[in-house]
Amino acid sequence: MKPIIVINLKTYQQGKKAIDIAKKIEKVDKEIILGVQASDVYEIAKKTKLKVYAQHVDYFLPGRNTGYILPEAVKKDGGVGTFLNHSEHKLNFEVLKKTIARCKKIKLKTLVFANNLKEAEKIQSLKPDYLAIEPPELVGGKKSVSTEKPELISSIKKKIKMKFLVGAGIHTREDVKLAMKLGASGVAFSSVITKAKNPEKKLREMIK
Ligand code: G3P
Repeated sequence: MKPIIVINLKTYQQGKKAIDIAKKIEKVDKEIILGVQASDVYEIAKKTKLKVYAQHVDYFLPGRNTGYILPEAVKKDGGVGTFLNHSEHKLNFEVLKKTIARCKKIKLKTLVFANNLKEAEKIQSLKPDYLAIEPPELVGGKKSVSTEKPELISSIKKKIKMKFLVGAGIHTREDVKLAMKLGASGVAFSSVITKAKNPEKKLREMIK
């Protein structure tokens, strides 16, 4: 099975640099889900065929709210989904529940992160489109969830009914293969691609 690939640009790149890296990613695989800052959704959605996701949205309705990101705004800009509850942008459960419901209403897809199995079990009940589990202590490092926490991936496989992705520290092709072998349907990358000298070559090495 072809893994679902998610790449999170975080705030490593923005503006022109984010567009450049998005174009390189698109050359490798157009099916990739790319998480970008809200301010970059419009340009990247216009210039690539990637599945562009915002890295966060809020549940507010249009109106008297300053500084929030509305799901409608992301959709109008050409985004097809949003990340929610990343370990670097945690939401409390009630807020997460409202935000997923808001996104469902306007048909904006949700990819929701969980730090561990317990949180994943709770989030599963909210029926997001995708669920990704990332142990926060491994995020941004060179030790991957696949090699450091294989038992976590297999226990998620046993206990979680929906398809799931895993991420954190994934930096080799073997990490990707192992995650899939243990039961994940896909993987999430960030630093391995965003910090690579040649992101296109690195991505090819990882997934092709
Ligand atoms: O959302 C993906 C991300 O948190 C993983 O980061 O740098 O460990 O690949 P990284």
